Amino acid sequence: MRVLGIETSCDETGIGVFDGDPSLLAHAVYSQVAIHAEYGGVVPELASRDHVRKTLPLIRQVLGEAGLAKESIDGVAFTAGPGLIGALLVGAAVGRSLAWAWRVPAIGVHHMEGHLLAPMLDKPAPAFPFVALLVSGGHTQLVAAEAIGRYRLLGESLDDAAGEAFDKTAKILDLPYPGGPALARLAESGDPERYRFPRPMNDRPGLDFSFSGLKTFTLNTLQREMAQTRDPDRTRADIARAFEEAVVDTLVIKCRRALRQGVSKRLVVAGGVSANRRLRARMDEMAAQEESQVFYPRLAFCTDNGVMIACAGWHRLRAGHSDPLAIQPKARWLMEDLPPL
Ligand code: KG4
Ligand code: ZN
Repeated sequence: MRVLGIETSCDETGIGVFDGDPSLLAHAVYSQVAIHAEYGGVVPELASRDHVRKTLPLIRQVLGEAGLAKESIDGVAFTAGPGLIGALLVGAAVGRSLAWAWRVPAIGVHHMEGHLLAPMLDKPAPAFPFVALLVSGGHTQLVAAEAIGRYRLLGESLDDAAGEAFDKTAKILDLPYPGGPALARLAESGDPERYRFPRPMNDRPGLDFSFSGLKTFTLNTLQREMAQTRDPDRTRADIARAFEEAVVDTLVIKCRRALRQGVSKRLVVAGGVSANRRLRARMDEMAAQEESQVFYPRLAFCTDNGVMIACAGWHRLRAGHSDPLAIQPKARWLMEDLPPL
């Protein structure tokens, strides 16, 4: 079964084709970074309008490059939520219409289920059950994944998501949008010993997170240190490093705690922030100590893409799930409300 995946939940138009275990046929991502950069963040209406321009041409491009006729597509999957409602509507309308025109089934996919399944696009794929840390721009969640569609929330961020904290702190540090990768690059040259930032909520039991205080802590540190430093570039890099260490350490501590709860010795780390090199290094270390195995998506599938949506849709369509003609994108949508296969 060959499934076309369409991702338009935020500021990337992602198109992918997936036809099973785990052969990936084709994919392309068009990033709207240039459009939103001058505003320092995503402007929802501009995002929707650009998805309108890009989605169909990108589908044509991906099918063309892979030498696939539209007749060879057996199903269409589109991100139905959570995300920006206008942006979701574009992908849902295009995806549902194409499926109708091609007389194939369609399915609305949960964006975070797409992220969660992304490591399965490579070998070795994680077997169920596993613990998943989902760290993106909109969500930070620890999930016990028992099977596809059987997810139990173990903990989540009570305020900013990890990626959001990276992006907002990058702005404080005067780094260009999108801030997360830029902050990570700056942090690489920083001294991890110079500052120590707090690890929020780690002195409390449980698996919830809170990152918004860290950004205020960064701002206060920056203002204080910049007023007296002789080497502002070095100071900024050292502060970026201290921030990154605090976020990474907090995520690692909570993942260790989750693994010790005994759901599984397998840990999946996915979503945009799972591209962070420091996070991967520290998670690998922790997993080795806990005699656990950690799985990440390949770098191209950490951030938003169409293949992860095609893959999640493929599993559901193959199990007989499909959506009616009416589209119902949801800006908010709990993973726990997904039906099991
Ligand atoms: O999963 P994703 O592409 O989109 C959402 O579903 O939100 O995640 C994007 C987030 C952004 O906040 C971005 O700054 C962050 O992932 N990100 C990173 C890195 N690469 C992307 N954060 C830290 N280090 C990175 N290398
Ligand atoms: Zn995402």
